[in-house]
Amino acid sequence: MALNVVVMAAGKGTRMKSALPKVLHRVGARSLLQHVLDATAGLGPTHTVVITGHGAEAVEAAVAAGGLADAQCVRQTPQLGTGHAVQQAVPALQPQHATTLILNGDVPLIRSATGAALAAACGGERLALLTIELADATGYGRIVRAADGSVQGIVEHKDATPAQRAIREVYTGMMAAPTALLVRWVMALRNDNAQREYYLTDIVAMAVAEGVPVVATAAASETEVLGVNSPLQLADLERRYQRQCADTLLEAGVRLADPARFDQRGTLACGSDVEIDVGCIFEGRVVLGNNVQIGAHCVIRDAEIADGAVIHPYTHIDGARVGAGALVGPYARLRPGAVLGREVHIGNFVEVKNSTLAAGAKANHLAYLGDATVGERVNYGAGSITANYDGANKHRTVIGNDVHVGSNCVLVAPVTLGDGATIGGGSTVSKDAPAGTLTVARAKQVSLPGWQRPRKQPKNAG
Ligand code: UD1
Ligand code: MG
Repeated sequence: MALNVVVMAAGKGTRMKSALPKVLHRVGARSLLQHVLDATAGLGPTHTVVITGHGAEAVEAAVAAGGLADAQCVRQTPQLGTGHAVQQAVPALQPQHATTLILNGDVPLIRSATGAALAAACGGERLALLTIELADATGYGRIVRAADGSVQGIVEHKDATPAQRAIREVYTGMMAAPTALLVRWVMALRNDNAQREYYLTDIVAMAVAEGVPVVATAAASETEVLGVNSPLQLADLERRYQRQCADTLLEAGVRLADPARFDQRGTLACGSDVEIDVGCIFEGRVVLGNNVQIGAHCVIRDAEIADGAVIHPYTHIDGARVGAGALVGPYARLRPGAVLGREVHIGNFVEVKNSTLAAGAKANHLAYLGDATVGERVNYGAGSITANYDGANKHRTVIGNDVHVGSNCVLVAPVTLGDGATIGGGSTVSKDAPAGTLTVARAKQVSLPGWQRPRKQPKNAG
């Protein structure tokens, strides 16, 4: 059945106390609105209409960038209520025989399956409401039923009598309606109520009056119908979302030390027997192979980590690839373009940027490798750096296989160290080092016999 989706996103979000439009605040690094649009995409709608108003330019730019190709934005100014919002979408609601599903841009964790169930409950001929029972229903529209249990209407909290306020069953803000009827009903709405607003919820009584069946579908969980109005609610939804991500990984066999101390802000694909200690943050697209271990408090973004690699605590990885069996950290930093081969070792306080290290290469302490090509089994000593930047341009350092770079060397790029070369500690290497030789480029050591340390002058008594 053809489906239209209307996403209401014009509201101000005053309680966020933020310059950012409410629907652009983020859960799991994705905007609230993008979560809703992603769930919408899963329904394969004919038309998706986003109602914008507050911060319209920014919201419309986000919709355009969000990758839902056929989403169309319609502005609502001024904002005179949810019924008024849907009125703005009317010209875009085609075809008229379709079902129209109404979602909220600030209810991010709604699942595609729930939207599909609601659309199916409508079936192009009934008005289907997504409802939930709440212990505290304050602020919500109450579902008013007749003695026989049939839905009679929705009454907004501000318009409700004390008896109606005692009702726990509430409208979640999401519904599905036959498009032609919805269009006729919203155009007939009036604003003679406590808030002087056009209430979308008033169409329920219209349906009842016309004998159109109204069905209430209960939401599967509270989480998927929770909206965001304040930073507190945003933080609560972030935790719920993170718990969902953690549970998905745990069910797939990933061993998270503590699902409550885990953050995923993108996609994380894991092989078998992966272990992730507490406090790690995964951003962008991260792929972990089989038997990978991630130590505590690592931040890993846009990275591929191959089978059996071990990332020790407090390591930062961004835009890098780590080979099978490699050991990285603790306190290591892999920056964009770092590519580590099999069994490479990168130790504490080592920074690698735009460099390739071949199998078995080691840089275990306090070092920098930038714009370097490092051969197999190279040992790169503590405190050594590539001087890759001359103040204007970057240059490459090429280190052959089995090279041994002593401690505290400065490799002034462009420079090449041939296979098997040894560089004496403390050298500043600005010319190529031939293969198989020892290169030392430091001041000669001298010892001066008979030299005396200065002595402190005795203080004058006066
Ligand atoms: C609405 C429902 C209420 C329901 C509750 C669930 C109505 C009249 N009431 O109340 O029954 O229990 O949601 O959360 O619909 N919006 C616009 N333009 C407007 C007004 C609102 O786009 O002129 C958007 C908001 O950005 C928001 C959504 O519509 O995404 C709901 O608006 P809100 O003001 O939060 O409605 P409630 O009063 O909470
Ligand atoms: Mg609301």
